Amino acid sequence: MISYSGYNSVELFVNGENWEVIIKPSETLLSILRDKIGLTGPKVGCENGDCGACTVLLDGQPVKSCLVLGVEAIGKSVVTVEGLHKTEAQKAFVEEGGFQCGYCTAGFIVNTYALLEEIPDANVSEKVEWLSSNLCRCTGYENIQKAVDSAQRMKK
Ligand code: FES
Ligand code: FES
Repeated sequence: MISYSGYNSVELFVNGENWEVIIKPSETLLSILRDKIGLTGPKVGCENGDCGACTVLLDGQPVKSCLVLGVEAIGKSVVTVEGLHKTEAQKAFVEEGGFQCGYCTAGFIVNTYALLEEIPDANVSEKVEWLSSNLCRCTGYENIQKAVDSAQRMKK
């Protein structure tokens, strides 16, 4: 097992590109993506794993990037909302107006994408359960649900 201390130059594979970044072992993937790679799609919300605004894909699985250390992402594929710009999930959120202030939207899009990859035929309760890890303070969820349904239809 490699052990890291102090500052380290490491390579991260994000949205299909290699990025060489200098990080401390204690830095979260969220702060590295935003502050060192310049990807501000993942948002800083609770920084406690509760809100889902920071959701990204790590080797295809949705994770809260505020709870993942950068060193844990070495050798894995990271995808942020910026890497999903031509997907049904992103298109559907735009078309259905699945947002108001937009702060939660990147997390919802990433998690919707992951849901439709994992369970393309998800029923209502599966969709609600899957997306319960993401919180929105603005929309009342109605248009978010419409966007998820629309993305699911587009993918078929
Ligand atoms: S900022 Fe990561 S879950 Fe809220
Ligand atoms: S659109 Fe504002 S928090 Fe969801």
